[in-house]
Amino acid sequence: MTRADVAVVGAGPIGLAIAWRCATRGLRVEVHDPTPGSGASAVAAGMLSPVAEAYFGERRLTELLVASAARWPAFAAELTEASDATIGYRTEGTLMVGLTGDDLAEARRLWAYQQGLDLPVTPLRPSELRDREPALAPRVRGGALAPTDHQVDPRLLVPALRTAARRAGAAFVPRPVRRLSDVEAGVTVVAAGCGAAALTGLPVRPVKGQILRLRAPGGVAPGFRHVIRGYADGEHVYLVPRADGEVVLGATVEERSDNTVTAGAVQRLLRAGVDLLPELTEYDLVEAVAGLRPGTPDNAPILGPLPGRPDVLAAAGHHRHGIVLTPVTAEAITELVLTGTPDPLLTGFGADRFAGRFAGPRSSCEEE
Ligand code: GLY
Repeated sequence: MTRADVAVVGAGPIGLAIAWRCATRGLRVEVHDPTPGSGASAVAAGMLSPVAEAYFGERRLTELLVASAARWPAFAAELTEASDATIGYRTEGTLMVGLTGDDLAEARRLWAYQQGLDLPVTPLRPSELRDREPALAPRVRGGALAPTDHQVDPRLLVPALRTAARRAGAAFVPRPVRRLSDVEAGVTVVAAGCGAAALTGLPVRPVKGQILRLRAPGGVAPGFRHVIRGYADGEHVYLVPRADGEVVLGATVEERSDNTVTAGAVQRLLRAGVDLLPELTEYDLVEAVAGLRPGTPDNAPILGPLPGRPDVLAAAGHHRHGIVLTPVTAEAITELVLTGTPDPLLTGFGADRFAGRFAGPRSSCEEE
């Protein structure tokens, strides 16, 4: 068999999008994963939220998030055409709300920071908030709109990307990859989420997230259309409505590597969700699940060659932002494979920033 130009290890959204883009550019591509789409994307909510997730001290990451979100409309349209599949891409925008006076004070501080970065955040009067989402609890004190923060459904995205990659000529190899020498290709791209630590020694750590899925009764759409990000009595939650009646309610952020679901987390998420949107009490609770985000020491992704290994590219450590960063990661890694020249957008996201922190390969998703 002819050796592949590119072996992608990991068939989550990042790996699949890289495979699709590389195959579309005429490269011979193999994707290695025994269980495609079984990592963080299987539980992810799919928010494309560079604005609402622009946090203090993460300015460079925010720039990358904004650049990738700007690519999403074209990426979604091209993927929909290439796969003949819907991916649940929606553009109603995101409402950020505060339940109590304290919550609102905390939220306003962040909105001021985001506005200081020239990000589109429009504070709303309570009446404007309710005009947009009448289902919000009357006691919600205030909010703001991030109109360019959209959403996609990761559980539709993964099969669409698999179809698009396969149609473009990528081959799928369902064997696990335990070490880099298990694959033979001109370039190996490690897009294995938490598994990148075991394969490369990169400092990728698991960050647990517990998340719930609810369903509106009667097969109707939820009674709200925007993604809602709420501060509710000190809890930070998000609620993502889908056209088929599903609502994703998340998520905890825990420095742990197990995937148990705890009663306390479910209680906190439900309490905050219901406090913001009382109609949720009538919804079916259909899933409670935990996933592991691939975090890094600075919680930004690692994009580019391993030190001393120009033939091994990392596309890993996307932490809370794997879905929004899919287009920019796929396109920049594909250009790097084709030209050997990194896109300036990747500056500062290389593995070299962690020089001296390589732990050596270890077992997948172990605690650091
Ligand atoms: N980006 C949402 C989360 O990580 O929970």
